[in-house]
Amino acid sequence: MIKTVGVIGAGTMGSGIAQVFAQSGFSVCLVDVAPPLLDRARATIEKSLAKFVEKGTLTAVDRDAALGRLSTATAVDCLSAADHVVEAIVENADAKRALFASLDTITRPDVILSSNTSSISITALGAATRRPEKVLGMHFMNPVPLMPLVEMIRGQQTSTGSMRIASDLCVRLGKTPVEAADYPGFIANRILMPMINEAIFAVMEGVGTPEAIDAVMKLGMNHPMGPLTLADFIGLDVCLAILNVLHDGLGDPKYRPCPLLRRMVAAGRLGRKSGQGFYSYSP
Ligand code: CAA
Repeated sequence: MIKTVGVIGAGTMGSGIAQVFAQSGFSVCLVDVAPPLLDRARATIEKSLAKFVEKGTLTAVDRDAALGRLSTATAVDCLSAADHVVEAIVENADAKRALFASLDTITRPDVILSSNTSSISITALGAATRRPEKVLGMHFMNPVPLMPLVEMIRGQQTSTGSMRIASDLCVRLGKTPVEAADYPGFIANRILMPMINEAIFAVMEGVGTPEAIDAVMKLGMNHPMGPLTLADFIGLDVCLAILNVLHDGLGDPKYRPCPLLRRMVAAGRLGRKSGQGFYSYSP
């Protein structure tokens, strides 16, 4: 029975993942290298829980209990007691492979090692361990506390038993697991990123302003956010990195990143997190 979960990486995704596990009754150890990152994650989690309390969907007692189940650490050694691990560090294949190799030695051999990667090969992460049948993708969506989907990625050697255990875990989090095969971008980004890229081409070619393009997709297609607002929300650097994975991995020119996207990333206009993307954001 999974009771204690380790989450590695205290960025936007890692803190959201730690929060939903803690809210669902699991003991969580959130790991990152620097204490300020952990402090920021805790503040983000407290803010999100406060919104739920304000809305009346969470009691103050349950909020305090969730926070009480959350601990933080600056080294992965604490994960020797974990029953399940979710990795959510930077999207760098070498860094992830090295981390999976060390998790393989630190955690119990029966523990499933999962990655929140949006586009790196799960098969390659499994190959860095002696338990590839227990390595799989659990790709949460941002903002994690609100989005119902977890895209479940089955690597070349992932066992059906591991997929079942991790899918049951998603259900315990109140999420809906949907399985995808280990191809570049899986399902979510294979479909989302070409739409965002096309919206950026449309800006570059003067088909419409960012406001017009977003209005068409919001009001005409009922999308909750227009594609350019969503690109700013995800981070333009992240969008570019995923498009590069699709382009390199599938070899089809239809995935080539728009030159305007490349130029904005080169200029440091990364979207909401840098204060400027297709739109401006106050700090
Ligand atoms: N925690 C708790 N509550 C939150 C929250 C959080 N982190 N963020 C927002 N909320 C609450 C707000 O307080 C608000 O509550 P009320 O309705 O009571 O006021 C409610 O959620 C709605 O928020 P907003 O009014 O700010 O904005 P919204 O109506 O546009 O909803 C949204 C926000 C849910 C994010 C919605 O815009 C949306 O679904 N956007 C699309 C998100 C999306 O596509 N995500 C996937 C990105 S791709 C990805 O993650 C994968 C990848 O690999 C790139």
